[in-house]
Amino acid sequence: MATLRAAGLPIEASSGAGYRLLWPTQLLDRERIVAAIADDDSPAAAAPVELHWELDSTQDELARRLGELPDLAVVLAEQQTLGRGRRGRGWHSPPGMGIALSCLKRFGGSPAALSGLSIAMGVSVVQALASLGVPDLCIKWPNDVVARGGKLAGVLIEISGEYDGPCIARVGVGVNVRLPAAVAASLDQPATDLASLCGGEPPDRNRLAARLIGHLRRGLLDFERTGLKPFAEAFAPLDALADARLAVHGVQDIREGVGRGIDERGALRVQTERGVFALLSGEVSVRRR
Ligand code: BTN
Repeated sequence: MATLRAAGLPIEASSGAGYRLLWPTQLLDRERIVAAIADDDSPAAAAPVELHWELDSTQDELARRLGELPDLAVVLAEQQTLGRGRRGRGWHSPPGMGIALSCLKRFGGSPAALSGLSIAMGVSVVQALASLGVPDLCIKWPNDVVARGGKLAGVLIEISGEYDGPCIARVGVGVNVRLPAAVAASLDQPATDLASLCGGEPPDRNRLAARLIGHLRRGLLDFERTGLKPFAEAFAPLDALADARLAVHGVQDIREGVGRGIDERGALRVQTERGVFALLSGEVSVRRR
């Protein structure tokens, strides 16, 4: 009990009745995920899917095994001890309460050619969630999935390889299925979870994992074939920063402006008094004012 509590699971002790979880908890099951991927007629259904009870980070597991795993291999972990988010943040999700997975994809071109991949992967995650009936989804550039003012899911893309290619992308996705209040309180931004958005009944976790895997794999293959354009079109109506007043926190300064969509590289266009500038890096933080 102490170990599970330390991992962040909300466990109640009731006098005489032992312990109980605050919610019914469904653990991930690799066979069910693989069967649901096949049911969905997802691309690359034969590529490996691994499920671990605990890893440091699914991103790090892929990095350790780059030489061994084929394209579109997926690693899932029920819990991560060193889950990472963008911009040096951590990503914390107790066992049974979220989805944490990473997918590997090799590209023939240079890392610079992947500047739009962040957008493509955010759109793919939204499409997976929307296909399960999750309402009110939008994307805060470049790829935070938000709903009703809280962050629901995040995408971390790490790229290794040569300056002029080829390169390897590791696409990590974390989704809050049930976010315990203590975890939510420890975050530096408002967050939400599928349980709240779906009237207390989040989608089946195995089906959700399969749907995410199918959409990410299809998104990676489509991005390789078509580039950013179709994803940019899908992004526009989801853009949470469109026409919003923004403060862009850079390393040295804070600039103010209004969000004006993205350009052909996936950079955020911000209109200021001195004209429109494009922000290519997700390493700066953009806040609504
Ligand atoms: C963010 O919004 O900051 C990105 C969060 C990404 C979290 C996922 S969970 C699976 C994968 N493994 C990690 O360590 N991080 C990503």
